[in-house]
Amino acid sequence: MSGTFITFEGIDGSGKSTQLRLLAKYLEEVGCEVVVTREPGGTPVGIRLRGALLDAHEEVDPLTELLVFAADRAQHVRRVLRPAIEAGKVIISDRYADATVAYQGAGRGFSPELIAEIIELATEGLKPDLTVLFDLSVEESTARTSRRSDGKHKGDRLDAEASDFHVRVRDAYLELARAEPERVKIVETNRPAEETQKRVKEIIVPFLKSRGHLVEVEANHA
Ligand code: TYD
Repeated sequence: MSGTFITFEGIDGSGKSTQLRLLAKYLEEVGCEVVVTREPGGTPVGIRLRGALLDAHEEVDPLTELLVFAADRAQHVRRVLRPAIEAGKVIISDRYADATVAYQGAGRGFSPELIAEIIELATEGLKPDLTVLFDLSVEESTARTSRRSDGKHKGDRLDAEASDFHVRVRDAYLELARAEPERVKIVETNRPAEETQKRVKEIIVPFLKSRGHLVEVEANHA
């Protein structure tokens, strides 16, 4: 059986990481083992690149940022994603190449051609089989991330960008969903986490069944 590659995307504060944890737990309960990973930071080298980029105390040039995300991705594709897919696993990544289209393309303003070329170079054409886009208004997501910053989580450099940056990022994600409706499924996250989780399962469970990764989901889990 060939592997399946799923990605979770969305603006900062969209709730995707919480949903990824809940989904992985659920899939394990129903007997489907998943590899959970992330970008940036899905490999040991990537963790160092992530730290260099997101906690930097000097201004990082947008080109540096673009190339570091690409370097992180190249390592992730070659050392984690491809081997897992070739081994027939289900792999779910918290962000992947669509984030570069949204953040570095629409957010920072690099041309679509350059973005496409760099993504092709880093991924060697590896595309997700399915992407769940967690969508929330920028106002609501900013309220969530600032609540988080009051606690332990300190907002990182990209969290701190002005709101028009996040509006461009969100619009670019929604445009990707319009352009590739078969691959990119939108989940609105302006409702309780349990409802969002239900919606995520409605997308993921039939998809994994159709690819032979999930045989039978017990009624009390459905
Ligand atoms: P993420 O891990 O989702 O943030 P956190 O766990 O701190 O909430 O992503 C880190 C940041 O990196 C996020 O602001 C989006 C950004 N990013 C890009 O700008 N381009 C990319 O290609 C990727 C993968 C992430």
